[in-house]
Amino acid sequence: MNWGMKNRLSQIMGQDDGRCVMLAVDHGYFLGPTEGLEAPREVIGPLLPFADSIMLTRGILRTCVRPESCVPVVLRISGGSSIVGEDLSKEAIIASIEDAIRLNASCLAVSVFIGSKYEHQTLMNLARLVDEGEKYGIPILAVTAVGRDMSRDSRYLGLACRIAAEFGAHIVKTYYCDDFDTVVRSCPVPLVIAGGKKLDEKDALKLAHDAISSGASGVDMGRNIWQSKSPVSMIKAVRSIVHEGLDVAESYTTFVHEPSGSNMTSKLQK
Ligand code: 5RP
Repeated sequence: MNWGMKNRLSQIMGQDDGRCVMLAVDHGYFLGPTEGLEAPREVIGPLLPFADSIMLTRGILRTCVRPESCVPVVLRISGGSSIVGEDLSKEAIIASIEDAIRLNASCLAVSVFIGSKYEHQTLMNLARLVDEGEKYGIPILAVTAVGRDMSRDSRYLGLACRIAAEFGAHIVKTYYCDDFDTVVRSCPVPLVIAGGKKLDEKDALKLAHDAISSGASGVDMGRNIWQSKSPVSMIKAVRSIVHEGLDVAESYTTFVHEPSGSNMTSKLQK
């Protein structure tokens, strides 16, 4: 692995504990103005100091994140279908590697839809991007999804994660499921979990805790942070699980006791 690749990977996966809290705000690329993320600049600003990295599209990066920001960028680089379109799995690569480099991306994210109509096309997107990433020393995050008729269980998620790793993804994002440790064991690269639909805060913290306890390297979480009644408190509570090893009750206590007006807390207090 070349130095640039190693350096970018360490920006994403943390320098000390190899873990990450990635803030996902890329939902608009197929969902449009998602609830809670209608005004991305307002959502991102207060959360950014507490994120190890941010996952987003180039349009939101350019317009809603200050270039002075030091937070590593995970650039979503696949897309092409919307929630009202023909099939969500019909994706292509939507930005060039040159533009990703101009935008100083530390990692590129591409979706693979295993068991869906356009499975092959999305796997070819991953293969092409891994080649491009290797050329320039940029790691690739494979975002796994499984077909509509497939349950999100360890069998299918394990299948999707393993295929993504076999294709050369450096990090794989998936969903937490029962027997998650079997998914981790059969995937030789770090796994991060999506938060999924909004849960009660305590349940979302339990999800993060269960995933980390089963071997996940971190979270790539969106809705359960910015749809929370107190997004800054929530991301801090998630951090306490991922980086400080707090249990659910302890992290929930920090969530409950965090004053709701603490959104402007500085990075120094992280
Ligand atoms: C959408 C994504 C999201 O970034 C991912 O699902 C994480 O967000 P959430 O925690 O809201 O599920 O990749 O395709």
